[in-house]
Amino acid sequence: MSVAMPMNAKYRKTIIAGNWKMNLSPRDAREFIRELKPLAVQAKWCDIVLCVPYLQIPEAVRTARGSRIAIGAQNCHQETAGAYTGEISAPMLVEAGVKYVIVGHSERRRDFGETDSLVNRKVLSALKAGLRPIVCVGETLEMRDNDITLDVVRMQVKTALRGVTREELRRGTIAYEPGWAIGTGYTATAKQANEVSAVIRAALRTVYGAQGARGVSILYGGSMNTGNARDLLAQPDVDGGLIGGASMRTESFGKIIEAANQNVPQK
Ligand code: 13P
Repeated sequence: MSVAMPMNAKYRKTIIAGNWKMNLSPRDAREFIRELKPLAVQAKWCDIVLCVPYLQIPEAVRTARGSRIAIGAQNCHQETAGAYTGEISAPMLVEAGVKYVIVGHSERRRDFGETDSLVNRKVLSALKAGLRPIVCVGETLEMRDNDITLDVVRMQVKTALRGVTREELRRGTIAYEPGWAIGTGYTATAKQANEVSAVIRAALRTVYGAQGARGVSILYGGSMNTGNARDLLAQPDVDGGLIGGASMRTESFGKIIEAANQNVPQK
């Protein structure tokens, strides 16, 4: 008996992405990817991405070669080259073998003053270079308490994607990451995650139409772990995860990849 394929499996990819932030060494990256490779072979139901620190990129790309694991960066500069000490540009990442880049993570907004318009410039630069940006949006606790979450997120999405064509959007992914849930152990409920993701999709629809919007994967991030992943990933508008803490051990990351399996049709 065949089971009807859920909407999200039909129109968009499930993506399980790890964000190691400023953790783990190049050697750790090599060992981690070696361990993850056998699992990745089986996990055809989702794309697997590891966003590692810049220095770990060469080792990660080398080790992941020939596997289904794509390597991502955690940031890029908005310009392609120039006098920007300490920065890395999108074309440099492409040359190093990087496929994805996180843009506008809440830690960069909070700690490095990244604004929506700067995030927009980074998104455009990443797309131009051929990368797949994972655009992070989300509210702080104060915004949620003031009941402005949905307005804030709508605005963040629209500003971040200003000037992005419908064609380019196909390479884009949005990550909904409520700031209050990141690294805190507090997770948005599956209902909260789906509510905001649905609002993000509705915002995309107003700009790109129904067809454009339904092809964009929207990930949830914020204390996703082996205990809550199944529930979160079962939501119709949640198409994957952007995982911090639980992405640093193959055991927990592997279990989250397994949890994403529920969206494939069962024979
Ligand atoms: P945690 O999973 O550690 O809460 O981090 C989420 C995150 O910020 C991913 O980008």
